[in-house]
Amino acid sequence: MELRLSSEQQAMRKLVRDFATRVIAPRAQYIDETDAFPRSIVRQMGELGLLGLPIPEDIGGVGADYVSYMLAIEEISYASAALGVILAVHTSVGTLPIFHFGTEEQRQYYVPKLASGEWLGAFALTEPNAGSDAQSIQTRAVRDGDHYRLTGNKVFITNGGEADVYTVFAVTESGVGAHGMSAFIVQKDTPGFRVGKKERKMGLNGSSTAELIFDEALVPIANRLGDEGDGFKIAMSQLDGGRIGIAAQALGISRAAFDAAKGYVEQRRQFGRPLADFQSIQMTLADLAMKIEVARLLTYRAATLRAQGIACTMEASMAKLFSTDAAMYVTTEAVQLFGGYGYTKDFPVERLMRDAKVTQIYEGTNQIQRIVIAKSLANKEYI
Ligand code: CAA
Repeated sequence: MELRLSSEQQAMRKLVRDFATRVIAPRAQYIDETDAFPRSIVRQMGELGLLGLPIPEDIGGVGADYVSYMLAIEEISYASAALGVILAVHTSVGTLPIFHFGTEEQRQYYVPKLASGEWLGAFALTEPNAGSDAQSIQTRAVRDGDHYRLTGNKVFITNGGEADVYTVFAVTESGVGAHGMSAFIVQKDTPGFRVGKKERKMGLNGSSTAELIFDEALVPIANRLGDEGDGFKIAMSQLDGGRIGIAAQALGISRAAFDAAKGYVEQRRQFGRPLADFQSIQMTLADLAMKIEVARLLTYRAATLRAQGIACTMEASMAKLFSTDAAMYVTTEAVQLFGGYGYTKDFPVERLMRDAKVTQIYEGTNQIQRIVIAKSLANKEYI
């Protein structure tokens, strides 16, 4: 069992870490405070190839393995979790569904533009009345000649309003549950489609989270992804990969909080010595480091399975659940280690704590991850 990164994976980590340190980290606080979408950084990420990492070279990507892609999300999120989610959603659930399920024409038209960063991608499943219960979406797609007319609302859509292409899920046949849902590629200039309210959030400022409104939006039949009725399986299978990305994002957040807190307790003196000299502080650091290490192992393992094409629904959910809970724990403890300073905006840990929270919620709440794990346990032998 190989538990070390390959030289290619280490090189990818270094490349992304250097970029994130030089370009993103100095602007992370500004992005958080202004809540402005960091378009110029996203463009630079595209120029570096970061928006097409797991896409093969012959269709415009970099051809990196899934672990390398996770390392990139982790390093970007270490500097700015907002840019981490922009990257993760664009790739895992904005681009890969088209790459995996698109016709040759769809792949050739959309994937190179997405992989190069010329276009940004997004994923539209959630609705006001269908979050965890994804089968209950109400957006309808009705055939009309050589088009479908899509009507309904989507909410909490990451990259909403900034993306050029959306993978949208809608019901094409009622009364047959998951088998009545279909997926569509919707371009931002589609007649009948517009962007609604943009959310003001606790954290992840700078990443866009918006409502999408479809009012008889005219989508060509040629833009249906897969067959009618394939939508739910497309969504779930792509969320398996997406959840590993969120685990990697949370890992980056945890590491950033840990490094900040460790640096602080080593230089902050109270009672005549550095805080790091107190055994209670050392024990806290040991616990945090262990949680980070477990999150790292689960995340890289799930990514390795995904890279090998091995079913990893359960492992992805375990990685997402553990790593995001760890991020909430680590960031909360980091604020505590900073004391009063941790509660101010002069240090990054309060931002990291706010950013960590949503990782326990999106791409399936952590309660849903437990349901997925339990269903997997019921269906297979677990050793
Ligand atoms: N891969 C492939 N197929 C899958 C699958 C998977 N991972 N999971 C389920 N399916 C298939 C099942 O095999 C089943 O197929 P059959 O009917 O042919 O047997 C079908 O889908 C229905 O499966 P279930 O009966 O398990 O479905 P369910 O209604 O009980 O739902 C659920 C399961 C796990 C609760 C699911 O609804 C779920 O994951 N909910 C959370 C939704 C979610 O994660 N939303 C995130 C939105 S995206 C986001 O947050 C992105 C962002 O912007 C950051």
